[in-house]
Amino acid sequence: MSADLGLRTPAEAVIPAEPMTPLPYAVVSAMVEGPDTVTVDVMPTGPGIAAVRPGQFAMVLALGVGEIPISVSGVGPDGRLSLTVRSVGAVSSAIVNLAEGGVVGLRGPYGSAWPVDAVTGGHVAVLAGGLGIAPLRLAIDALVAPESRADRVAVVVGAREPSQVLYRPDVDRWLALGARVVLTVDHATRTWPGSVGTVTAAFQRLGELPDLAFVCGPEAMMLSAGTALVDAGMDPSAVWVSLERNMHCGIAHCGRCQLGPYLLCRDGAVVPFAGVADLMAVRGR
Ligand SMILES: Cc1cc2nc3c(=O)[nH]c(=O)nc-3n(C[C@H](O)[C@H](O)[C@H](O)COP(=O)(O)OP(=O)(O)OC[C@H]3O[C@@H](n4cnc5c(N)ncnc54)[C@H](O)[C@@H]3O)c2cc1C
Ligand code: FES
Repeated sequence: MSADLGLRTPAEAVIPAEPMTPLPYAVVSAMVEGPDTVTVDVMPTGPGIAAVRPGQFAMVLALGVGEIPISVSGVGPDGRLSLTVRSVGAVSSAIVNLAEGGVVGLRGPYGSAWPVDAVTGGHVAVLAGGLGIAPLRLAIDALVAPESRADRVAVVVGAREPSQVLYRPDVDRWLALGARVVLTVDHATRTWPGSVGTVTAAFQRLGELPDLAFVCGPEAMMLSAGTALVDAGMDPSAVWVSLERNMHCGIAHCGRCQLGPYLLCRDGAVVPFAGVADLMAVRGR
């Protein structure tokens, strides 16, 4: 089967009219996803940020603490946005600990998106490691939706241990909508029904060669998965990864997020593996 995936270069960044002004959002619910990780749903208290495409991020301001980039992991019809945040430092823990009614500031959305709209058929694989599932969640939702033009969708989700597998209700929904879903962990419990081992190995065991792949997780995982997909015969420009670097402005002004010729807040975070594989390999040494 040859699918015309209409692949494009990284999507152009959409810079809002008032790019540095955070808009207030109030927490409407918070769901504990695992140790240190919470999905916070927020609603705008006035005007909200522009429409978010799968894979884009917002700069999230914890009042009086600081501002960090967070991927938008869900979008509701009522303007609600989901932010899945792991507490690793001052700002992320302030967001994770917000009570219902607590207020954060959001600006964005920033960056490129997974090329979901370019799918016109074929087999799409999604490989997620750890919190890397957060920026992929909207893309998977779009790929398994009844109106999706993907012929087949395979999703491999990896986590350190079963308690760290995020979005369990979504996994059941994706399965019900016809996706092939594999969960894999580094350290299994005795009752774990899924696979054990890396995301790359679990995907290789499926014996599939996708036409398009979205990969997100720790950088070593993306490098290993991207390399394995290309070695198996995939066109490197059909493998997409999402790269994280420290970010400050989010609008290509400060240079904090530079990787080689790219400013990842503008040219990424979602980029074709073909354009960054060498840079990732150098950094990993
Ligand atoms: C485009 C993008 C999307 C992101 N999406 C999410 C998300 O959906 N959910 C989420 O929990 N986190 C996400 N992150 C990472 C998040 O921004 C950082 O964890 C956060 O900046 C940490 O800030 P802090 O003040 O809590 O901790 P800090 O004290 O600033 O940092 C704590 C530790 O995390 C490390 N760190 C900080 N920023 C990064 C980074 N960008 N990459 C790798 N390590 C980092 C620091 O070196 C330090 O070791 C994203 C980052 C980017 C660039
Ligand atoms: S975060 Fe400032 S240039 Fe990218």
